[in-house]
Amino acid sequence: MGERFPEDFVWGAATASYQIEGAVREGGRGLSIWDAMTQIPGKILNGDTGDVACDHYHRLEEDLDLMVELGLKAYRFSIAWPRIQPDGKGASNPQGVAFYNRLIDGLLKRGIEPWATLYHWDLPLALQTECDGWLNREIVEWFGIYARICFENFGDRVKKWITLNEPWCSSVLGHGIGLHAPGRVDCNEPYVVAHHLILSHAKAVEIYRNEFAAQNGQIGLVNNCDFRFPLTDSAADRAAAERSLEFFLAWFADPVWKGDYPAVMREILGDRLPVFTKAERAMVLGSSDFFGLNHYTTMLASEPEGAREDGEDQHVHLTVDSTWEKTQMDWGVVPAGCRELLKWIDARYDHPIIYITENGCALDEPDVQAALNDTARQEYHRSYLRECRNAIEQGVDLRGYFAWSLMDNFEWSFGYEYRFGLCRVEPETLERTPKASARWYREVIECNGENI
Ligand code: NOJ
Repeated sequence: MGERFPEDFVWGAATASYQIEGAVREGGRGLSIWDAMTQIPGKILNGDTGDVACDHYHRLEEDLDLMVELGLKAYRFSIAWPRIQPDGKGASNPQGVAFYNRLIDGLLKRGIEPWATLYHWDLPLALQTECDGWLNREIVEWFGIYARICFENFGDRVKKWITLNEPWCSSVLGHGIGLHAPGRVDCNEPYVVAHHLILSHAKAVEIYRNEFAAQNGQIGLVNNCDFRFPLTDSAADRAAAERSLEFFLAWFADPVWKGDYPAVMREILGDRLPVFTKAERAMVLGSSDFFGLNHYTTMLASEPEGAREDGEDQHVHLTVDSTWEKTQMDWGVVPAGCRELLKWIDARYDHPIIYITENGCALDEPDVQAALNDTARQEYHRSYLRECRNAIEQGVDLRGYFAWSLMDNFEWSFGYEYRFGLCRVEPETLERTPKASARWYREVIECNGENI
């Protein structure tokens, strides 16, 4: 058994703008849909907001030094669109550009590779209120313009670009069940929004490849997916597990890697699923230099007993195994699912380059002592990394792994009570302290994963 990760394996940690920056009304930043969402009573646990978050905007140097302490080779962050274009359209905001320049230069000075995400859910509020946000086909053009501004300003130094983070969440959580901004609840909007997200991703990639080829970088899409094991070995349950993965991941990945939505979605949804024109299909197909994957957990899929209910498009019954250990989010710890998902992607998309752009766990950390002694997090990462290595040994082209997250931060509708950080952020003082998992991760990086 080979015991090693490839020599140039990318070891990193990830964050996102709204979850850590704070300073929402500073530096000329416009408001985002999350600034609005957090104002709605009852939407966020404890009424938390991203107003201050980790105050990363003001603690940039300290956080860069923290990354050095962790020995990170790469850092994945997101650019807040409303810092760059406060209303989502028009000229760029010099103060916003300056902030990310400081971040990027600070990373490079410390030998850490910047991985920039263009969109991690903080849509400029004006685009939502005045133009219906992702529901409007024109957003493809607006996103392209925003992306161009980023390539122009940062592309001389940023060589790894991610267009969108988890478009499934923007579609389903944002427009299906209303858990995420803009908080809409509808059964058709997710498909329209997803369509425009996919086209926007492809537009940004087209611009990058046509106008910025000389920058010599790579650009790709990041999708999230949990794995599905069939509950039993029956043909119906196996089909349910497959269908569930297709509705979750292939919905976004098939257009990019195969040129259209999965056939099963077309069969079930008919006209409710938008259609790519020939030109759109050509723009979308092949529009990712790598397969970005955010992965956390697994569920068991089975064929439901009754007939399909309204709004239940994929018609899959999901459960968890009661013996699985659970994280604070109640997500099962199932490292084998990670390996199987990597193999599923490898087989379905013809052996792509894959990066795990997020993996991690929230833990109940009632006091400082418990937080700093987070052996369960260390075990979570260790067990998932072991399966990553197994997947590599079985032929999967996995090239990197980013822990979510560098530090405790604003976990969307769960506020600050759900902590994913390798580093603790003290709620009152915002002081950062590496947890045991952070020190362990440093060693992992140092020996290129030989100790896992
Ligand atoms: C996915 C998202 O990209 C990130 O923003 C979130 O905090 C983590 N997963 C954990 O839920």
